[in-house]
Amino acid sequence: MSVSRPPFYVTTPIYYVNDKPHIGHAYTTLACDVLARFKRLDGFDVRFLTGTDEHGQKIEAAARAADMEPQAFTDRVSESFRSLLGIMNYTPDDFIRTTEPRHKTACQDLWNRLVERGDIYLGSYAGWYSTPDEAFVTETELVTGPDGVKRAPSGAVVEWVEEPSYFFRLSRWQEPLLEFYRTHPDFIAPESRRNEIIRFVEGGLTDLSVSRTTFSWGVPVPGDERHVMYVWMDALTNYITALGYPEQDGDYARYWPADIHMVGKDIVRFHAVYWPAFLLAADLEPPKRVFAHGWWTNEGEKISKRLGNIIDPVDLVNTYGLDAVRYFLMREVPFGNDGDFSHRAMVGRVNSELANDLGNLAQRSLSMIAKNCGGQVPQPLEFTPDDEVMLGAAQAMLSAVRAALDRQAFGEALETIWVVVRQANAYIDRQAPWVLRKTDTGRMGTVLYVLAETVRRIAILMQPFTPNAAARLLDQLACKDDARAFGALEPSVRLVPGTELPAPAGVFPRYVDPESAETK
Ligand code: ME8
Ligand code: MG
Repeated sequence: MSVSRPPFYVTTPIYYVNDKPHIGHAYTTLACDVLARFKRLDGFDVRFLTGTDEHGQKIEAAARAADMEPQAFTDRVSESFRSLLGIMNYTPDDFIRTTEPRHKTACQDLWNRLVERGDIYLGSYAGWYSTPDEAFVTETELVTGPDGVKRAPSGAVVEWVEEPSYFFRLSRWQEPLLEFYRTHPDFIAPESRRNEIIRFVEGGLTDLSVSRTTFSWGVPVPGDERHVMYVWMDALTNYITALGYPEQDGDYARYWPADIHMVGKDIVRFHAVYWPAFLLAADLEPPKRVFAHGWWTNEGEKISKRLGNIIDPVDLVNTYGLDAVRYFLMREVPFGNDGDFSHRAMVGRVNSELANDLGNLAQRSLSMIAKNCGGQVPQPLEFTPDDEVMLGAAQAMLSAVRAALDRQAFGEALETIWVVVRQANAYIDRQAPWVLRKTDTGRMGTVLYVLAETVRRIAILMQPFTPNAAARLLDQLACKDDARAFGALEPSVRLVPGTELPAPAGVFPRYVDPESAETK
């Protein structure tokens, strides 16, 4: 095929390696993985980046607490983020670590560009700093708790910092940023975050401290090695390091600006204010979009190390299965909202939607074909209006799912598919092929053909969400590897009657509580 594939660049935040990954990290990367897989199937040339954020005071302190050298410590924790890729079946094209040489080169080059343009100057910082957030906190943002302790808005305890520091002239970029938001209405999503950021910038921007001298675990400031670069300036640069920046041809030319930076709502300011300001100042293009999703709680409680209620994605996968976990996270809450993880909600979704709705639909249709049609795709006779409606609905899914995912509305995309799943269940009940088996086998074959074709289309669209189960369904429909991309959803492409099908088997197991299973 010589059709040129448009580029699509999607990134996750790079995660701090102070601790091992939890459900929140898994969630953001999952959303990116679903988008990356969808866009690949839809004919895009995808670059999907994730990685780890390894510098700064917080990591240095975590290494010290583990009684390790920072490099050895980050090597170890970074590996636990890398191993999650396989466990969650993520498909990134690159995994960046900010301690790599390529990243130091990129950071120092960006710094030099900002110096050349007069946007960095030497001064001194005296103010509050939150190490858990790696953020400077202004007096007005400070929250004093009932215990009299001063905290950042995140709840993290702040400390007083006084040291020489380089500053970025952020104040100069207030108007250009507001102008950029006006001319790029899709830059920040969802809408509530966009409004929050615009209000913040309208409230006035002060220059940003961008170097530290009281510790050394970071990228040295070029020409003044007593300073290390502020970890957020270092971290944000990862998105262009991975495209070969400072080289501006090659991958950078092809993939930059990024189509989407996916982040949690906690770090939207860094991505939607500081990052585009650095880039505008350096005469580089800002990313096209920053989407800030919500936060997960655990059975109604904030997830924190202190509360000891961190959800380990590896445990989830072991308990419920990978496809179930991926499905639940993308389905349970509208993307952008906060969500609550509970065992009950998880089991409810898995059993009623995956096992009952889709699993039974596929299993009923395919096992009837196996038993009554000689294990071959049946030859349909003329389609009735009811058949045509079913086939039409299955055919219409792609454009609706695509539109939803272009707004990062993952739950809506799944609901679009589920409307058809439910429609197909109603169709099978109405047509009752088990009755037709005795009265009209030609008609039975037609109904089963319509069902198999509908399941094929659903399975193709489910690949980004539940890749393993979708692949097994497509195996059972004898779809060749080159017939699984969205080209196979063209109206002209349909199951070929007479195709031999392998024996069907369920792909979405019910979750059975180990305890209730024992008492049965
Ligand atoms: O902020 N619910 O890294 P980080 C949903 N290194 N998502 C959650 C979550 C929760 N309870 N907890 C964490 C950093 N996340 C920086 C980023 S990027 C240049 C540098 C997700 O390890 C969410 O995406 O603290 C959040 O933004 C991210 O993890 C923070 O990860
Ligand atoms: Mg964090």
